[in-house]
Amino acid sequence: MFVNLATLSFVSGLLFATGRAQLTGSVGPLTPLSSKTKICSVLDYGGSIGSSDIGPAILDTFNKCVLVNSGSTLYVPAGNYNMQTWVTLKGASKWAFRLDGFITRTSTTGGHMIIIQNANDFEFYSANSLGGFQGNGYQCRNAGPRFMRMVTSTNWSVHDIIMVDSPEFHLIVQGGSNGEVYNMVIRGANIGGSDGIDISGSNHWVHDVEVTNRDECVTIKSPASNMLIERIWCNQSGGSAFGSLGIDTAISNIVYKNIYTNGGNQAMMIKSNGGSGYLKDVTMQDFISRGTAYGLVTLMYTRSSMTRLAGNGVQLSNIKFTNWNGNVVDGVQRAPIALICDDLTPCTGITLSNVNMWSQTGKAVYKCESAFGSGVSCIKSGTASSYAVVTVTPTQPSGYTTPTTMAGDLASGFPSTATIPVP
Ligand SMILES: *[C@@H]1O[C@H](CO)[C@@H](O)[C@H](O)[C@H]1NC(C)=O
Ligand SMILES: *[C@@H]1O[C@H](CO)[C@@H](O)[C@H](O)[C@H]1NC(C)=O
Repeated sequence: MFVNLATLSFVSGLLFATGRAQLTGSVGPLTPLSSKTKICSVLDYGGSIGSSDIGPAILDTFNKCVLVNSGSTLYVPAGNYNMQTWVTLKGASKWAFRLDGFITRTSTTGGHMIIIQNANDFEFYSANSLGGFQGNGYQCRNAGPRFMRMVTSTNWSVHDIIMVDSPEFHLIVQGGSNGEVYNMVIRGANIGGSDGIDISGSNHWVHDVEVTNRDECVTIKSPASNMLIERIWCNQSGGSAFGSLGIDTAISNIVYKNIYTNGGNQAMMIKSNGGSGYLKDVTMQDFISRGTAYGLVTLMYTRSSMTRLAGNGVQLSNIKFTNWNGNVVDGVQRAPIALICDDLTPCTGITLSNVNMWSQTGKAVYKCESAFGSGVSCIKSGTASSYAVVTVTPTQPSGYTTPTTMAGDLASGFPSTATIPVP
């Protein structure tokens, strides 16, 4: 997993040319690391290996060296550091942050340990594949910082970083465009509020990521357009999702592909209850899931767990599910296919092909409500008005084969009350 693919972002332009239609252009930094040769080391700005707070040195290095030298690399050399002062690194372009050291959170202040804001032509990476964060989240669960937030940045990448047990979410991408996230290992606790990657913006590519936690694996937030999410291993994770979708949702042209989910909550869930706007032109293909609680779930399944928002519901249209093979723990208790749409705003163009979802108990139901499209017996064709929930009792799909176990699957998640080991 931890192959160092420092050059991949430059290859991605080529891949795009061969048919990554949902991306609108190249992603990643505009210039290679070889043109970011001015080394700005934290050791020259008050930092030291073993430091009890590397935060001020990172900020000083950024202000006094990165901001005044185009083509620079902020360097945190290999070694262990503690951090208790959070930093916002704002407004630089043509730069890199090379994190070869490993940073442990020691303060419970909220916010984000590192915010990168309005960066352009930027690369955040570890050259030795040892760089990352330990949050010891069990010490301040949901009452401490998140690790990292990329805010409205363009032409950037984050790769080869280890993230272990953030007190809250691990990596958040907020808006921006042309980002690439790859070769990441994220280990959160087997508990809610431990999101792996939450992403919004346009033309972002997330690939080759493994997430172990009990909340979102890689989740799309609004607004989002032209994203490709592929080769994701959700190891005892909450699973993939869209949402929660709210008022004025604007999500389009998304592809999820080659997603493997072992255990946890769901293979894919679109979370919404009320609200407005749209989610359209989405393809979810080549999903394998094993022993999830929920399977493929569209909209409104959150009815019971999410307070209804103002608005008649988010319009879902042209959503394709292709080549799925998976099972849920108990397919009668929780339908492995549940297309539950808003009666005020029925879903249209929901197309399932070669979707083989089953139950470990050998018995399942599928459910549809106000969903229009094709490919499962409970769905209605056309675009008529709402209909009440239809429950069917299918036999085992002929294309279903019990998905094989992957080496490295976790039998249960990481502890929420003790240290999570660093991979
Ligand atoms: C980001 O890169 C694209 C080319 O891929 C370029 O058109 C755009 O201007 C860049 N953004 C900035 C802020 O330089
Ligand atoms: C899943 O967890 C197991 C146990 O920690 C680990 O060996 C394996 O590498 C993990 N797989 C992924 C993809 O994280």
